[in-house]
Amino acid sequence: MTTQKTALVTGASRGIGRGIAIELARAGCRVAINYAGNAAAAAEALALVREAGGEGLTVQGDIASAADRERLVAQACEGLGGRIDLLVNNAGVAPTVRADLLDAGEESFDRLFAINLKGPFFLSQRVAKQMLAQAPDAEGFRGRIVTITSISAYTASTNRGDYCMVKAGLAMMTKLFADRLAAAGINVYEIRPGVIATDMTGAVKDKYDQLILREERGITPLRRWGQPSDIGRAVRAIAEDRFPFSTGACFDVDGGFHLHRI
Ligand SMILES: NC(=O)c1ccc[n+]([C@@H]2O[C@H](COP(=O)([O-])OP(=O)(O)OC[C@H]3O[C@@H](n4cnc5c(N)ncnc54)[C@H](OP(=O)(O)O)[C@@H]3O)[C@@H](O)[C@H]2O)c1
Repeated sequence: MTTQKTALVTGASRGIGRGIAIELARAGCRVAINYAGNAAAAAEALALVREAGGEGLTVQGDIASAADRERLVAQACEGLGGRIDLLVNNAGVAPTVRADLLDAGEESFDRLFAINLKGPFFLSQRVAKQMLAQAPDAEGFRGRIVTITSISAYTASTNRGDYCMVKAGLAMMTKLFADRLAAAGINVYEIRPGVIATDMTGAVKDKYDQLILREERGITPLRRWGQPSDIGRAVRAIAEDRFPFSTGACFDVDGGFHLHRI
């Protein structure tokens, strides 16, 4: 990269977001590490970013809250020298209780829609306005927005329909912002991870060990768990502008899960 790029990564204290922050640091980025409540994990992520050759800061904020979004964007912007080149919408939660579609309750529905869909939508809207006010960078971009969705955007799990619906919504959100912002020099992408080893999947590790690692016809042609760095490397490629003629594109980083096989 010719100039030091700046990135705001939501939910970067742990898991996939941390992996993204570290890969961006390897590309020399300055990274704002957003987190909800785990300040110790965020500090650890920042130490790893520095170890990887980047710089950064931690920014607490619940992306479901309008006031928090406003504050976290202001703090990130200030800490990043007045410019956000890349927004990574990564923060997200799984349902606390998996419930069959016929029993699913409104509490879980509201929580997932607030954190996983409303948060990224209004954060993208807010950061897009910031990017529109920025002068184009050396490559002619005003910014890039990446959203981390899931294979759940198109895979039905009837015991967590709320999660599947918000991820499908994020896929459409990517297309909408891509269309709206293309003329302004802001490219927008979706990255669709498969099963990645993080705290989120820790509770279902045995189930996925079985499904992924079995000798015959596992759920992924590539017979291993994904790692946060697998997603981090994909985001890094976008930060390095490897896809300047793509916008609204979806990248499957899933070990081949999305293939239809017979
Ligand atoms: N793991 C997978 O297999 C997988 C697969 C496909 C897609 N994904 C998606 O990838 C993203 C990251 O998942 P993960 O597995 O890395 O999850 P994780 O290990 O549970 O980490 C979640 C991260 O999000 C932050 N966070 C949670 N709620 C937040 C809120 N309201 N505001 C701001 N930050 C918040 C957490 O901060 P604290 O540390 O402060 O709690 C943490 O940094 C999610 O969107 C998830 O849906 C995961």
